[in-house]
Amino acid sequence: MQLFIDTADIEEIRCANDWGIIDGVTTNPSLMAKVGRTTAAVIREIVSIVDGPISAEVLATEAKSMIEEGRILSQIHKNVVIKLPMTIEGVKALNWFSKNGIKTNLTLVFSPNQALLAAKCGATYISPFVGRLDDHGHDGMELIREIRTIFDNYAFTTKILSASIRSTLHVREAALAASDVATVPFKVLKDLYSHPLTDRGVEAFTSDYKKVTTK
Ligand code: E4P
Repeated sequence: MQLFIDTADIEEIRCANDWGIIDGVTTNPSLMAKVGRTTAAVIREIVSIVDGPISAEVLATEAKSMIEEGRILSQIHKNVVIKLPMTIEGVKALNWFSKNGIKTNLTLVFSPNQALLAAKCGATYISPFVGRLDDHGHDGMELIREIRTIFDNYAFTTKILSASIRSTLHVREAALAASDVATVPFKVLKDLYSHPLTDRGVEAFTSDYKKVTTK
């Protein structure tokens, strides 16, 4: 499973990229607001750091304006993926981007039928929001499993990008459900490394070997 980092914070992106574990980046307008910068400015910087798919979300709500906005963002770099909302207008724009060979990520996916429509129209990625479904008393991971079955039934090549990941358990479950990608906040990425037995083991090996070197 590929791992993307879900942030617009350049320092977090640099750090995770240095760790050598990330394959791409996703952003959204709320993440841009957190860092107080425009989408174009942040995306320009990210493409100079990470060599992989970078999702940039359009703000327009009508297909024509989404296409205009997405075309400009796609010209920033070949790795830019245009993130469109899973609406009628978003799917209309998706058809245009698919025909013109521009990569897309259909976001705010909350049902298997939405995923089916996006896949039929050639989306490169779809982003089912696992955490937000859990927040509303649903099983977010069940959505990933159902979409996996549908895509496999029809050999769709659209990639499942598990989003709205809140914990290491979500990452593990996404991998078990054969999600193609999980986009993960910085803190959760860092937590993926941790296990108390690893720390205890490293401490024990270090202190045991001191007995050898001091003899
Ligand atoms: C996905 O691409 C979104 O940026 C993100 O995963 C949303 O997560 P949230 O529900 O924590 O805001």
